[in-house]
Amino acid sequence: MAEIGQNIEKAAQLLENGELVGIPTETVYGLAGNALDEKVILKIFKTKKRPQYDPLISHIGSIELLHGMTENIPEIAFDLIDRYWPGPLTLLLPKRKEIPELLTSGLPRMAIRMPDHSLTKQLLKRLNFPLAAPSANPFGYVSPTSATHVENQLGGQIPYILDGGSTNIGIESTVIGFDEDSIIIHRLGGVTIEELRKFGKIRTELNQSGNPASPGKLRSHYAPGKPVIIGVISELMQENRNAGVISFKDEYPDSKKNIVLSKKGSLDEAACNLFAALRAMDVPDIDVIITEKFPEHGMGRAINDRLRRAASTYGL
Ligand code: TXA
Ligand code: MG
Repeated sequence: MAEIGQNIEKAAQLLENGELVGIPTETVYGLAGNALDEKVILKIFKTKKRPQYDPLISHIGSIELLHGMTENIPEIAFDLIDRYWPGPLTLLLPKRKEIPELLTSGLPRMAIRMPDHSLTKQLLKRLNFPLAAPSANPFGYVSPTSATHVENQLGGQIPYILDGGSTNIGIESTVIGFDEDSIIIHRLGGVTIEELRKFGKIRTELNQSGNPASPGKLRSHYAPGKPVIIGVISELMQENRNAGVISFKDEYPDSKKNIVLSKKGSLDEAACNLFAALRAMDVPDIDVIITEKFPEHGMGRAINDRLRRAASTYGL
């Protein structure tokens, strides 16, 4: 079992000693370690059971570290940084040669962001190295949005989890890269397409097979332990008696178990509650999770993306 607390000094000392610590961010919890230490990077891959071809995001607390780790940053990236950092936007930028290849799985670009959570901001300020921190879940499972989620799955393998409460965005950061004239969206997340459009031409490159620029886009990500079916809830309920229903705003009192993500119909609130709901349905008396397509705008797109990936594990 990991110790759970709010002791930033303790977390910092463990990280300085090459240990891993669960950290809160505004999106999901991360499994953090020194991004510049190859032994620590290996430990992250091993603890998460993540294949080494799927690179890690680095988290920084200052713009100086951005310049220390990356080079040839395009002008448009600075506009986005000014607007969204600290916040849920991850940039793919050319890495400096000193940055370990292991961190980026041999790719020339690294993923980097400045998270927006008071405890983690203080922690990063206290440290003199960046933190590599993929989501703190075993590879392929739903991301954690509370310290308890981290404890339940990785608690036996890490000494400490910094408890920052439930995360307030609840879905991972948006991952973007750049070409000569466009912003390329590799993962939908906390910053919406509508917002990014204000900064320039947008292209989306999600779910590529082969050798994707962002390998974590594999479709089978974000799966809970039960099959997920997306469709018209009332119809699906007739065929599935022991179904857990995750709905947007309507209630389904006849279902075995129903979690409404936002009674007032807010997509932001629904995103915030989604991963905890998927976990809550992962119990023995539920056979299958039934859910619906969310409105395809704002955070609804990221919600639909995560639900489709969860469903695709079972070939649906
Ligand atoms: O919100 C988030 O981004 C959370 C919090 C903890 O910051 N982190 C997170 O990390 O979701 P992770 O590792 O679960 O997802 C990072 C995504 C993966 O899809 C990974 O493949 C992609 O970013 N990625 C990381 N480094 C990359 C690189 N050098 N080139 C392309 N894609 C990269
Ligand atoms: Mg992840």
